[in-house]
Amino acid sequence: MLPTIARENDTVVMIDQRKLPAEEVYVRCKTAAEVARAIKTMVIRGAPAIGVAAAMGIALGTGKSTATGTQKFAAEFYRICELMAATRPTAVNLFWAIERMKRSFGAAAEAGESVDQIKDRLDREADAIHDEDVASCRAIGAFGAAVVPAQATILTHCNAGALATAGYGTALGVIRGAVEAGKRVTVLADETRPFLQGARLTAWELLRDGIETTVITDNMAGAIMRTSRIDLVVVGADRIAANGDTANKIGTYTVAVLAREHGIPFYVAAPLSTIDLATPDGTHIPIEERNAREVTHLRGNRLTPAGALIRNPAFDVTPHHLIAGIITERGIFRAPYTESLKRAFESAAAVGS
Ligand code: MRU
Repeated sequence: MLPTIARENDTVVMIDQRKLPAEEVYVRCKTAAEVARAIKTMVIRGAPAIGVAAAMGIALGTGKSTATGTQKFAAEFYRICELMAATRPTAVNLFWAIERMKRSFGAAAEAGESVDQIKDRLDREADAIHDEDVASCRAIGAFGAAVVPAQATILTHCNAGALATAGYGTALGVIRGAVEAGKRVTVLADETRPFLQGARLTAWELLRDGIETTVITDNMAGAIMRTSRIDLVVVGADRIAANGDTANKIGTYTVAVLAREHGIPFYVAAPLSTIDLATPDGTHIPIEERNAREVTHLRGNRLTPAGALIRNPAFDVTPHHLIAGIITERGIFRAPYTESLKRAFESAAAVGS
């Protein structure tokens, strides 16, 4: 399976997603600050993957602490958590992972553990977050395969694949699950301007798996839906509000509106760690605005005239009424989402207890 991110001795290693598909190079982070920078600069991206990166960064940074007293160690731990939380605002998996690390720290402190014991505990928690994410993606794939016809053309936007998770993927997990179930799948990958996650990353990882993939520019989706057969759309998510409104890569909303117009079911695939019941609806989801240079330049070449105003919101919100179902590791949840998503967590709690 694709090595998106791993802990190796005293480093966190990740494939540099800014360089794919031209170069397959790995970035080795030796400090928590380097991990935070890697998240901010998109060396690693995708909601579940940045949650895993933050957890590993916290384990790495605290693991290297020279503090001997628990008070000084705690101060360092919380400073590193803040560093991670300041990287990207939209994907809730980041904050979910930081909270998990804080809970683990709190339990260790309450049990009166030594600094070394707490370091071990944080290492184990980061590894658990990584491994659970792979397991969740596989379960999403198995549930999602059920909505894919035996012969299917599936459109996806951005990259919600192995590269965006600890492995296997969410939206691409559904595609992989369908292929593993013996279905014949062909994929339309939206290029996903401006960062080109679809053209560069989705196409790269699907082709590695031998899954037929056609890359289209974002503005082709409507015409192709009108003229060719598309069986379903499946995308990932960065944050799903309690009512089902879903933040995902900019352009997702456009695809959802087009899918509704053409009678194509539009599915979201995401683990429970992406669902944020504390956010009542999409209007409360913070949307990251990234550097204008991502829009004005391509590989160092200027595309737009100097002086043009630029917008670069990295995400948009798809209202819940456009979503046919939310595919999670606990099954597929459908409208009304306010009730069904609450049930998803209740069933997870029952399984965990
Ligand atoms: O800006 P990115 O590349 O981090 O945005 C990624 C997406 O929007 C993905 O679709 C989402 O995080 C789900 S990844 C399983």
